[in-house]
Amino acid sequence: MEQKYNDSLPQLFSRDNARKWIERRTMPFRSLMAYYNCAIMEVTTKFNVLNEEFSLQHDRNPIETVKSRLKSPESIAEKLSRKRLPPSTDAVEKYINDVAGVRVVCSFIDDVYTVADAFLMQDDITLIEIKDYIKNPKDNGYRSLHLIIEVPIFLSDEKRSMKVEIQLRTIAMDFWASLDHQIKYKKHISNEEHVFHELKDCANSIAEIDRRMSKLKEDIDD
Ligand code: GTP
Ligand code: MG
Repeated sequence: MEQKYNDSLPQLFSRDNARKWIERRTMPFRSLMAYYNCAIMEVTTKFNVLNEEFSLQHDRNPIETVKSRLKSPESIAEKLSRKRLPPSTDAVEKYINDVAGVRVVCSFIDDVYTVADAFLMQDDITLIEIKDYIKNPKDNGYRSLHLIIEVPIFLSDEKRSMKVEIQLRTIAMDFWASLDHQIKYKKHISNEEHVFHELKDCANSIAEIDRRMSKLKEDIDD
């Protein structure tokens, strides 16, 4: 039986426990992962449809790529214990928003908002949370528009709402984020302050180029 929060003991939240639960790959867990995968397919298709339609009307693609990933069971276990959540499918569904992740890389800054607005207008999409790290970049220079949404998936005998984390960004923002991730991921950094400063400086230069390219496009379109 799945664990409930109210009858859980403190040791339930340990990393070991979360890992053991994940390793068991119970049927409810495997089903849940399959549902998230279906949600990824639904959302990916929606963005591909928007791209197709936009390119018909405007002779260019606002979306460069749509990538997706399903969070690994190990990362789910790690996040459950980090957030002091009990290992259960309930807890995953309720509190982990990024099991299903879709990244939409757009050409220009305006495209990010055009695509996001068109997506959010769809009547089967429920917006749960929006974080605009383009208008308000993170301290380190990270830029992207993050959405947590719910999308229905239709199974043989039920309809389920699944959460998906969507990151929309320009090619330039994606370039920075990818390299930032590679530079820092699981590495010990001794001169942290210098690296932080350099990365932020690069992020600002890249943002400036993004703005110049947008301006250029506007000038030519006019
Ligand atoms: P979690 O760490 O997932 O609990 O996220 P959060 O609730 O703080 O969410 P946030 O929206 O800030 O970030 C979620 C995701 O955005 C991360 O998993 C990354 O994929 C991406 N992201 C956020 N900040 C950075 C950053 O500084 N660099 C890079 N490369 N990616 C980032
Ligand atoms: Mg995350």
